[in-house]
Order: sequence, then structure tokens, then C-alpha cells
Amino acid sequence: MISKLSLVLFALSTIQVTAFPRLNFNDVKELTKIAKKSGQYPHLAKRQELKRQTAFDPTTQKVSTAGEYAWVAPGAGDQRGPCPGLNALANHGYIPHSGVTDIPTVVSAVNTAFGMGIDLGTFLAVFGTTFDGDPFSLDPGYSIGGPATSEDVLGGSGLLETPLGLSGSHNNFEADTSPTRGDLYVVENDYLLQVDQFQQFYDAVPENMASLTLPAPEQYAALFPFRQARFNNSIATNPYFFFPQFAGVFVSPAGYIFPLRMMANNSAEYPSGYLDKASFMSFFGITGESGSFEYNAGWERIPNNFYRRPLSDPYTISDFILDILSYGLQDPRLLSIGGNTGTTNSFTGLDIANLTNGVFNGATLAQGNNLQCFIFQLVQSEAPTLVTGLYENVTAALQPLVESISGNLAGLGCPQLEAVNADLYDVYPGYAKAKGV
Ligand code: HEM
Ligand SMILES: *[C@@H]1O[C@H](CO)[C@@H](O)[C@H](O)[C@H]1NC(C)=O
Ligand SMILES: *[C@@H]1O[C@H](CO)[C@@H](O)[C@H](O)[C@H]1NC(C)=O
Ligand SMILES: *[C@@H]1O[C@H](CO)[C@@H](O)[C@H](O)[C@H]1NC(C)=O
Ligand SMILES: *[C@@H]1O[C@H](CO)[C@@H](O)[C@H](O)[C@H]1NC(C)=O
Repeated sequence: MISKLSLVLFALSTIQVTAFPRLNFNDVKELTKIAKKSGQYPHLAKRQELKRQTAFDPTTQKVSTAGEYAWVAPGAGDQRGPCPGLNALANHGYIPHSGVTDIPTVVSAVNTAFGMGIDLGTFLAVFGTTFDGDPFSLDPGYSIGGPATSEDVLGGSGLLETPLGLSGSHNNFEADTSPTRGDLYVVENDYLLQVDQFQQFYDAVPENMASLTLPAPEQYAALFPFRQARFNNSIATNPYFFFPQFAGVFVSPAGYIFPLRMMANNSAEYPSGYLDKASFMSFFGITGESGSFEYNAGWERIPNNFYRRPLSDPYTISDFILDILSYGLQDPRLLSIGGNTGTTNSFTGLDIANLTNGVFNGATLAQGNNLQCFIFQLVQSEAPTLVTGLYENVTAALQPLVESISGNLAGLGCPQLEAVNADLYDVYPGYAKAKGV
């Protein structure tokens, strides 16, 4: 059976192969070398900045917030969830205002409005559709919030359960230790912004003054202590804290990285972007004054006169992996699977070598393409277990994800992961809770 989704993916993959370079082994090697030598994080950011060679072009980089893209508050029945980027896109009509989107629409929207690479947008959209949406719908896609009430994504046929949407995706997509959303088992929801956490994030983003002008890549570099503090906070407060390969190692960094890579305003002065406090608040649905912020859930908004990154330099999977590595080199816990074992302050890292029968090991995860190989192959290997109970035919449901993963790993020279010792997860109660068992 060739699904419509497979055709869409095929079309997207041909664009991707011709237009977007893969992670270059030498980039990572050089990055690791620089990190070791300098011990100075900002140099890593500088390394990446070298890439932005395109001159600022206000005509093509301006993001429309007028006409069909004018901001409209979500109404009753509209879905909004843990992702401020997607919530904003729904409020501006870049994806349906209902918050239920199909894959090509969201891939195109994140590219048009934020400059996200087609490769990364596709992978995230396929992942959300597979785990939290409906891959068998005529328009495969998912809800960015809770279970869809509209007909679009609820095909019914082939599904054993109503898809939960991104708000119900804890530990398969939505993660503990997010910047502004609380840990599910601490604050009882995982999709609403916590104002105290936003305040910390806001305080951590350096603001330019006469003596200090940091472009967005260096603003990201400066966030490391906040990221580490949030990780430490999950260890100290969440007995069920779990940091798996996908939601943890791959997705949770996005919350810290994406604002600086895709919500930063580009200009002639800042060709790699600068995130100012007012825009930051707008993107997160925050109004009021620092110290007494107010949060309107689901009211995320793209500020007027926002200029995104140029499409000649989209934010790709390679860029994302490099950003994950740059923090992971400073704190290896961020690259590896782990969690609390049922009490607070019981964080235990998992033995990657044991998990993968020696194919990967913690000491070499930051080398070459290992991190990407490890994350993507582990997702593929564990997916059948994780979607058990969702689909009549798991093989058919996973086909698009498997295609997307093999497309993204082709040519990387990954070692072949055969089997996973999933028993090792049993020490983490957060794992069992995520599987709903
Ligand atoms: C198809 C594309 C996308 C999908 C499927 C997606 C999905 C998600 C999910 C599931 C989360 C929750 C992760 C967590 O708990 O930490 C999340 C968080 C987040 N996303 Fe997205 N996202 C997408 C694109 C974007 C884009 C383009 C941006 C920014 C321009 C963005 C910005 C964010 C931020 C800042 C967070 C962290 C929220 C917080 O805890 O503070 N996302 N996204
Ligand atoms: C987080 O915890 C680690 C390990 O205990 C420690 O080295 C680090 O300084 C802490 N960082 C912050 C920002 O609290
Ligand atoms: C982006 O930068 C340009 C040029 O400095 C400025 O005119 C515009 O207002 C800025 N946009 C935002 C949202 O800050
Ligand atoms: C499940 O889907 C696969 C792939 O589309 C197909 O080859 C297989 O025959 C299906 N199995 C059943 C029991 O329908
Ligand atoms: C690997 O994990 C299993 C538990 O699944 C444990 O019994 C075994 O001792 C571990 N082996 C090594 C080499 O750590």
C-alpha cells in the first residue's frame, strides 16, 4: 500500500537531498576540538555563525502578520499546546486556526515563517503524526494541542485509540525539563507555560546594551547555565523525571535553542539574528512587566516587522545536532539517557553500551555522526513497542517514520543497531508511566 503520506514524504525528500547539506563529519570534529582547546563556549557559537554568509534581504525575510496572516486569538475548540512556535503559526493562519494540521502544511509553515529546514520540519511532523496523530488519515497530521475534535485528522480507520495530540505526548515527544513548560508529574500538565520558569528564561537571555552586543548564537551560548539549572531542577523535584533518547536528548534542547535560532529578528546589523525581550514575550504569549508577567495561554504571537533567517540558510537537522552537541560537550548528561529512579535526587544515567549491545557508547556519542545515528536508530528500533495499542497494523503505521529516518541517515556511515535491551528502562518509573503501563 502506498499511502498519500509516503508520496508527500517522497516529494519532500527530493527537495531535501538537493537543497540541504547533511551534517559534515568535519564540522563535529572541529567543534569538538575547539571545545576541548578553549573550554570557552562562545567559540562554538562563533563557529556556527561563520555559516551565515547571505546578506540580509528585508523583502524575502519579512514575515507577514497582516491580511490572511493577521493574528486571531484561539477560540473555543481550537487546539493549542506545548509548542509556542506552532501555537503562533495557528494564531496567524500559517497552519489551520483549529490547531489540527496536516504534514505538508506544517512543514511549509515552519519553513516560511521561521526558516526551519525542510528536513527537520518533515521529521518532526512525521514523528508527531506517527506517535500523536493519524498517519492513516487522507491528510495525515496531528493536533498541536489536545485530541482533535474536528474531522480532519481523525480518520478512525486503522486506529485503535483517539490520537492524543502534542499535549498528550509526554515522553514520546513532549519532555520533562523544558524551559517554560513544567514537568507533567510535578505541575500536573505539560503544555501550559509556568510564569516563574518564563521569568527565569527571560532573565537568562542577555539583552544588548551599549557595551554588549551579542548576536543570537551567542545569546544561545549564554543560556547554558539556565538550561543546566532546569535539568538540575527536574532531578531535584520530579521523582519521575525521565530523559529518553527522543523527547529528552533530541526534543528538550529545542525549547532552549529554537527561540535563538528561529525567533530571533534578523537585520542588516544582526545578520544571524538578535532576540529582544519584547519579541520574546510576544512569541510566548506574555504581557506585562518583568516581575509581574501575565500569560495568556495559546496567545503566542509573531511580532510585527519580524524578519526570519534567510531560506538560503534554513535551520536543518545538522544545525540542530551541532547545537545539541555544543551543550552536551559541557554536560554529558544532556547527551545521554537517564532519569530519577522513583525519588527526587536519584538521577542515574543509563549504560548506553549495555542498551545497544556495544554498538554505541557514552564516551563516543559526541564524535562523528554518532549522536544522530544513535537517536534516530533508537527511535526506529523502539517505535514498534511505543506505538503498540495505537494501531491495527503497526508496520504500516511506522512506514513513513522508517522512510524518513532511513532518508536522514543515508550516507552518514552509521553503525548498525540490531537490538535494544529495553529492560534497562525498568529502573525509571517515568518510562513505564509514559508507555501508559
Ligand atoms: C513541525 C514542527 C514542530 C513540532 C512538531 C514541534 C513540537 C514541539 C513539541 C512536542 C514541544 C514540547 C517539547 C518539550 O516538552 O520540551 C515543543 C516545544 C517547543 N517548540 Fe516546537 N515544534 C515544531 C516547530 C517549532 C518551531 C519552528 C519553533 C520556533 C520557531 C518551535 C519552538 C518551540 C519552543 C520554544 C518549545 C519549548 C516550549 C517551552 O517549554 O518553553 N517549535 N515543540
Ligand atoms: C547542575 O548540577 C551539576 C551536577 O551536580 C553541577 O555540576 C552544576 O553546577 C549544576 N548547575 C547549575 C546551573 O545548577
Ligand atoms: C527587526 O529589526 C529591524 C531592523 O532593526 C527593525 O526595524 C524591526 O522592528 C525589528 N523587528 C522586531 C520584531 O523587533
Ligand atoms: C500491514 O502493513 C504492511 C505494510 O503496509 C503490509 O505489508 C501487511 O500486509 C499488513 N498486515 C496486515 C495484517 O494487514
Ligand atoms: C546489562 O544490563 C543487564 C540488565 O538488563 C545487567 O544484568 C547486566 O549486568 C548489564 N551488563 C553490563 C555489562 O553492564
